[in-house]
Amino acid sequence: VPRVFSGIQPTGGLTLGNYLGAIKRFVDMQASGIETFYCMVDLHAITTPQKPDDLRRATRELAAGYLAAGLDPAKSSLFNQSQVPEHTQLAWVFNCVARMGWLSRMTQFKDKAGKNREAASVGLFAYPNLMAADILVYHATHVPVGEDQKQHIELTRDIATKFNHDYGVDFFPIPEPVTEGAATRVMSLRDGSKKMSKSDPSAASRINMTDDSDMISQKIRKAKTDPDALPSEASGLNERPEARNLVNIYAGLADMTVDAVLADVGGKEFSVFKPMLAELAVSKLSPIAAEMARLMQDTAEIDKILRQGAQNARTVAGPILEKTYDIIGMVR
Ligand code: TYM
Repeated sequence: VPRVFSGIQPTGGLTLGNYLGAIKRFVDMQASGIETFYCMVDLHAITTPQKPDDLRRATRELAAGYLAAGLDPAKSSLFNQSQVPEHTQLAWVFNCVARMGWLSRMTQFKDKAGKNREAASVGLFAYPNLMAADILVYHATHVPVGEDQKQHIELTRDIATKFNHDYGVDFFPIPEPVTEGAATRVMSLRDGSKKMSKSDPSAASRINMTDDSDMISQKIRKAKTDPDALPSEASGLNERPEARNLVNIYAGLADMTVDAVLADVGGKEFSVFKPMLAELAVSKLSPIAAEMARLMQDTAEIDKILRQGAQNARTVAGPILEKTYDIIGMVR
């Protein structure tokens, strides 16, 4: 049976990259009628230091973002990773399946650990094993993510394959990353070679889901571009990373292909295109921001939704963990 799992770290605010690369896809997949599980990965968040109050707030704000963007607790299980202990239990098993060499090659680890690897937390190193457990504890088959997470899904596939092989079973499915649409890698508005990220020191580099209309318009107006007019075909965006990024964002927000966008705007100057993009972004994002703000006024209601989601999730994860323990020889 097909099943969808994905997660987002509750660290800092949500960006337009998280929205176009992940949450918008989550909503599409919810509509497909497949069983969907969407998590706030709070245990992944603490692989780098988090202040407890900030983590609590970010977790609820992420939940508010999920709900405001159209995820429906009646259709999807929405929950915190820490409240479904089967994730960490399976992660331990995977710590014993994955190899040090595999994890050492993960680019996210290399980026986040920086030069001083000795000082990185063990959790940061083992991060992908927990991520594999997140996915496989539901026997999920499809994982909607942005481009930057593909390497981790590849590792998840390696772990599932090795587990099945080592124990001579056909137990874990080999999950597929789902990276679809024009905006699977949204870039910084200040530098077309860098990913848009919540950790970029420049606030002007990203659009946050909680930005108001003026901020969104201002950031788009100031976005870095080149002096040329827009091309009328996608091939004209080669070597123009900033132009490509803005067109991708437009296509992602409008649910259009890049070719269809360029058929409309090819030949226009950025002085004309940027206001069009700002208007589109405001019309799509400000209702979500307003709904997030409304939901954040009743955090007890958010917590209740997440508790219910965790209960649902455990009914699926529990039996899969038990079966895993049986396979590896744990006595009950
Ligand atoms: P995280 O929290 O960094 O990002 C959440 C999701 O947003 C996508 N994303 C982007 N997509 C396009 N352009 C961008 N600039 C951009 N920035 C972020 C990410 O690709 C991701 O889909 N390890 C994961 C969280 C995780 C997870 C999982 C995901 C934990 N367990 C299991 C899937 C399945 C992470 O750090 O995502």
